[in-house]
Amino acid sequence: MEVIIAPDYASMSRLAAAMVVDLLNAKPNAVLGLATGSTPIGTYQELVALYRARKIDFARVTTFNLDEYVGLPVDHPQSYSHFMRTNLFNHINVPERAIHVPSGTTTNHAAFCDWYEEEIKAAGGIDIQLLGIGGDGHIAFNEPGSSLGSRTRLKTLTQQTIDDNARFFDTAAEVPRFAITMGVGTILEARHCILLASGEGKALPVAQAIEGPVTSMVTASALQLHPRTTAIVDEAAAARLKLREYYRWVHRHKAQSQGPHFLRTAEASLPRDHLAE
Ligand code: GLP
Repeated sequence: MEVIIAPDYASMSRLAAAMVVDLLNAKPNAVLGLATGSTPIGTYQELVALYRARKIDFARVTTFNLDEYVGLPVDHPQSYSHFMRTNLFNHINVPERAIHVPSGTTTNHAAFCDWYEEEIKAAGGIDIQLLGIGGDGHIAFNEPGSSLGSRTRLKTLTQQTIDDNARFFDTAAEVPRFAITMGVGTILEARHCILLASGEGKALPVAQAIEGPVTSMVTASALQLHPRTTAIVDEAAAARLKLREYYRWVHRHKAQSQGPHFLRTAEASLPRDHLAE
């Protein structure tokens, strides 16, 4: 796994956005896998700014979100559908028909999940999948114990996830108990996974996911099996990585050896003196 330690949240967000720009420059009809949570908000702000500056065009893009709470209609302020509209879709030119967020109100979960998987396939598969990480090391809503081969399905949330997400609701009792989520196996089929993490609260799950054993107890650790995952973590989230000096060393040398293309994205994340070292 490629691990990039960004100096701070803003740099992490710029670098992730730069990778999306690079993809869309090469493939204007790319398929983006999108995540919710507080972590990717900065990346979405960057993408909106780049769109407004006419540096990126979403007219031919298709999107698939990772997950949605069961029981929340699309216009519920805490639904992931609402989150995506507020933070990204309302501000860019992605066509409405190209947006896919799992339904929080379907009554036929199994059939809906099969349909979602088929839609991803029909779109040609996901090119870049953005991912955050939960406090217990989950990706999307693949809670500990999820099969590492799992597909899109209905999932019961753990108490820790309910508590972690209670900050977005008036009371913990309002946090839904179930979600529809892409499976770990679904996520692993994306061509490039970008795992984002920021803040000291993520230091332990980040270390477990990147350097611990591959285990269903930390579903993000399944990314170690993926041929192309980039973890972009800020300093605080990197604090418990044993090999963090090595990751910095690798990134510096890549920046020096891979020429202008790499430097363009690297520059988005690193302060100038870092690149010059
Ligand atoms: C939820 C989402 C995940 C997200 C996680 C962390 O569980 N389903 O996709 O990664 O929250 O959220 P945050 O980025 O707010 O820490």
